[in-house]
Amino acid sequence: MTSEMEKRLFTTEKFGGRALYKLHAATVFVGICMLLCYRATRVPAAGAGRAAWLGMLAAELWFSFYWVITQSVRWCPIRRHTFKDKLAARYGERLPCVDIFVCTADPQSEPPSLVMATVLSLLAYNYPPEKLSIYLSDDGGSILTFYAMWEATAFAKHWLPFCRRHNIEPRSPAAYFAQSNMHHDPSALQEWSFVKGLYEGMIERIDSVVKSSKVPEEIRVNHKGFSEWNIRITSKDHQPIVQILIDGKGNDAVDSEGNVLPTLVYVAREKRPQYHHNFKAGAMNALIRVSSVISNGPIILNVDCDMYSNSSDSIRDALCFFLDEEMGHKIAFVQYPQNFNNMTKNNIYSFSLNAINQVEMSGLDTWGGPMYIGTGCFHRRETLCGRRFTKDYKEDWGRGIKTKKHIDQTQEKAKLLATCTYEDNTQWGNEIGVKYGYPTEDVITGLAILCRGWQSVYRNPPRPAFIGVGPTTLAQTILQHKRWCEGNFSIFLSKYCPFLIGHGKTSLPHQMGSSIYGLWAPNSLPTLYYVVIPSLGLLKGIPLFPETMSPWITPFMYVPIVKNIYSAYEGVSSGDTLKGWWNGQRMWLVRRITSYLYGVIDTIIKLLGLSNMGFAVSPKVSGEDESKRYEEEIMEFGMSSPEYAIIASIALLNLVCLVGGLYQIMASGENMTLNGFFLQVLLCGLLVIINIPIYEAMFFRKDTGRIPFSVTQASVGFVLLALFLCRVKTRWNKALSRRRYKYSAAVSSTGENEKSLNAGTKPGYICVWRKKR
Ligand SMILES: *[C@@H]1O[C@H](CO)[C@@H](O)[C@H](O)[C@H]1NC(C)=O
Ligand SMILES: *[C@@H]1O[C@H](CO)[C@@H](O)[C@H](O)[C@H]1NC(C)=O
Repeated sequence: MTSEMEKRLFTTEKFGGRALYKLHAATVFVGICMLLCYRATRVPAAGAGRAAWLGMLAAELWFSFYWVITQSVRWCPIRRHTFKDKLAARYGERLPCVDIFVCTADPQSEPPSLVMATVLSLLAYNYPPEKLSIYLSDDGGSILTFYAMWEATAFAKHWLPFCRRHNIEPRSPAAYFAQSNMHHDPSALQEWSFVKGLYEGMIERIDSVVKSSKVPEEIRVNHKGFSEWNIRITSKDHQPIVQILIDGKGNDAVDSEGNVLPTLVYVAREKRPQYHHNFKAGAMNALIRVSSVISNGPIILNVDCDMYSNSSDSIRDALCFFLDEEMGHKIAFVQYPQNFNNMTKNNIYSFSLNAINQVEMSGLDTWGGPMYIGTGCFHRRETLCGRRFTKDYKEDWGRGIKTKKHIDQTQEKAKLLATCTYEDNTQWGNEIGVKYGYPTEDVITGLAILCRGWQSVYRNPPRPAFIGVGPTTLAQTILQHKRWCEGNFSIFLSKYCPFLIGHGKTSLPHQMGSSIYGLWAPNSLPTLYYVVIPSLGLLKGIPLFPETMSPWITPFMYVPIVKNIYSAYEGVSSGDTLKGWWNGQRMWLVRRITSYLYGVIDTIIKLLGLSNMGFAVSPKVSGEDESKRYEEEIMEFGMSSPEYAIIASIALLNLVCLVGGLYQIMASGENMTLNGFFLQVLLCGLLVIINIPIYEAMFFRKDTGRIPFSVTQASVGFVLLALFLCRVKTRWNKALSRRRYKYSAAVSSTGENEKSLNAGTKPGYICVWRKKR
């Protein structure tokens, strides 16, 4: 037993406290059943109350269903630990070749200087350089990016030895030099300043070339690669370009100490206007083919161009899974979490994904593995290319092309694999490679791999492995979540729905866990209902919850209180502050009534084939004031857009309802008691408290990030409209029911009676309304 354990390169540890968790979940489940039972058996007979009540029932049914779905990943999450020292002892430097893919699309929105910081951090991995190859796919086909890479090649010759000698972390020069603490070793100070100077010089040159959009002629003569670009080339129309900048053999490129540098390749696949390019999935597939004739490493790491490596040992870390003797042969990919810099202490926009990273992905790992999230993922090349899992399959870790033939020949061969027509009549994008046709193609690719019998592994090391740039404004956050939820929702509605594709192939809890993100979007409607109708009910005197004296109030109190205590615990234990958790609740609301709502509407519009215009959320680049407010954790609005109007209207509506409702309770005494409306007051009150920053942004702030006056006006308009409609509706209903009642009570009454009845109950506002029309 112990010798077995000693052989393992990684261990798996269960999360603690699961018995307690399961007990808590069981009580919540009972609470939910009681709550639904109460709802279902006490539907009011008629009137506005009935419709509102049925709506509440529908919303609560949805929330209950979604809660059950999310239990799958919380039931028994696991953590993985690796033993890199054992890997080193067993394999030494006899490690497999690793190919790293970075995809960039546009030098304007993804500045080449930023992309190069990522590339340099990857080049500087603590890994045998002759076994490491980095491929940058430039879907912008831009000479500016190629120029930046040429500059980075020169800088790498100084950067890599510097990192190695002083064991520097992180190895992205941008992140490293941004740290305020200088190198402590005084003898290294001179070298530190020298390398810093080189880096700053490089960034200045790259930025100025990007700004002018032109590479000077005297630079173009330095590398024959520049001759690929002529005046006719545009980002949407160009031949395939493959340039090996460093060939990894040490012919022309060794670092300043004479060591070999990793292979570095620039790839711009062919683009023609008449061919669909399939976005990032198309770029990934081109890279898989191009790399197969250059290095053909059995392991492929895929990172986003803004995601630098924060830990130089990550490759060895991931290999502990693939090379493990007991489990390794089953593992198709190792997924690392997405971490972000630029997160503030209390996470004002709640973008750190802490709960997802710490709990939900670990929970999926229990049931067969996390999905592939498109970045920070190590793949086995064979599985990415469509291989099914079989027990007797043995990976040839020694494979890979180490001695390269003529660079020119290799480049020509690679170019043929990156043409538009190469994939015609092949299974690329379907059975082979990353799948085409969906906005979140990574997720279905990962699911398909798991359905072919493989496992995946989630690894969340103590030292974050990959760091990306997270959104720092509200608009960016809303946009990012809209993209995610829309992509996942459209997958859920497609033939790739986890319940369909996984049926009989993955376990039910895995299917449930993989559906969580697909079901984000539909949460919007019940949430919207829940934050509007009970509050309006309070104002109108329509009770929607049990009275304080009723025993039924127990589940209505227990379920939300316990759920929120648990959620706060989960947040805090995942690294949030308590205030960060509170901010997260606000953003939970904001996301559901904006991003997710747009996601649902857009998906439906697309499904109906009406158009692909949809909602556009426009994030803007942040200025200095904004960055300052971001650091101070003040919410940023600034411009008028419909999503802000929704947020402001909901906030305002709840304030009005709370004040109006409380006033009526105090004024009317008998008719409306606090007893009967306690939970509605509580719900409405909580919504008001959580929205305090929104009221501030509407009425009190003076800075440019406040909610613009036009948005405030619009939301006041909406609220008035809602109150008006609601008034119309209840009066109308009352009128109708009274009339019906009187009608049946006096079937044989005279026509005169009938007339007076009409006059007496005819609501006055309708006349007003008609007059206005
Ligand atoms: C984000 O972080 C980077 C470096 O870590 C910094 O240069 C940049 O100014 C930050 N942006 C904001 C909006 O805080
Ligand atoms: C990078 O890793 C270091 C070392 O563990 C850690 O302190 C730091 O927070 C990480 N960077 C980010 C942005 O998370």
